[in-house]
Amino acid sequence: GLERSRVEEMIHAMQRAGAGSLQVISDFDMTLTRFAHNGRRVPTTHNILDNRLLISEDCAKKMKDLLNTYYPVEIDASRSTEEKLPHMVDWWTKVHELLIQQKIRKDLLAQAVKESTVMLRDGYKEFFDHLAEQQVPLLIFSAGVGDILEEVIQQNRVFHPNTHVISNYMDFDHAGVLQAFKGQLIHTFNKREGALRRAAGLTALQGRPNVLLLGDSLGDLTMADGVSEPENVLTIGFLNDQVEQRKESYVNSFDIVLVKDETMDVPNAVLRHII
Ligand code: C5P
Ligand code: MG
Repeated sequence: GLERSRVEEMIHAMQRAGAGSLQVISDFDMTLTRFAHNGRRVPTTHNILDNRLLISEDCAKKMKDLLNTYYPVEIDASRSTEEKLPHMVDWWTKVHELLIQQKIRKDLLAQAVKESTVMLRDGYKEFFDHLAEQQVPLLIFSAGVGDILEEVIQQNRVFHPNTHVISNYMDFDHAGVLQAFKGQLIHTFNKREGALRRAAGLTALQGRPNVLLLGDSLGDLTMADGVSEPENVLTIGFLNDQVEQRKESYVNSFDIVLVKDETMDVPNAVLRHII
């Protein structure tokens, strides 16, 4: 984490430059959504698909086994990003293959989101609404499933016109059945490539050199790598899991670290200062 005075200086500089110079880049799963609620894990966009409307019991079991194998690798403080990369590609590739075999129907996705226990963090409405009112673009950059992510923010009534999404989108055939995933795979640790390939081309983000970046993974720090000539990039990291093992690396990597904080209170307070 940066010293308090450095964070304050950056917030001042961003405030002086104003809303017209600002963009917000945020991860989705476990950053805009809660990690846990009443002691239970909140589902990620992939886990929302674990609903008998969409996938079989057998497929659900296979996805759980994959999660139990690969999630500990994703958050392992003792392994480097380079070491984790091939495992993440394996995880996402295997899960997407399983999902495609299930012939998931597009018209059932909204129902699955409704039936899930997904929750955005407390204070989400102020966050999304304030950015929309100030016409500050919000880029949601997610290695989750784009169709599900959009449905979650839609159902919470905060999908405003300033919102842009880069994620893994489902490709449906003419009958509305899942046949593939579109474009290059995005996983936790290749967001830099996505930022250079996709975010850098979004015209709504041009000429906004000040960035508020929110994430829950060290991989999320590369989401702003597509910003040309950045001036102030203030990063906030949510440390949800494996707190003791990861605290040091998070404090060294993010400007502000929020430990087991299920709210948007700090991002909202920062935004109230800036715009
Ligand atoms: O939106 P975000 O980039 O955070 O989405 C990726 C998250 O989804 C990862 O942190 C990972 O733990 C989770 N994931 C999952 N099931 C999968 C693949 C990823 O829950 N099959
Ligand atoms: Mg995340």
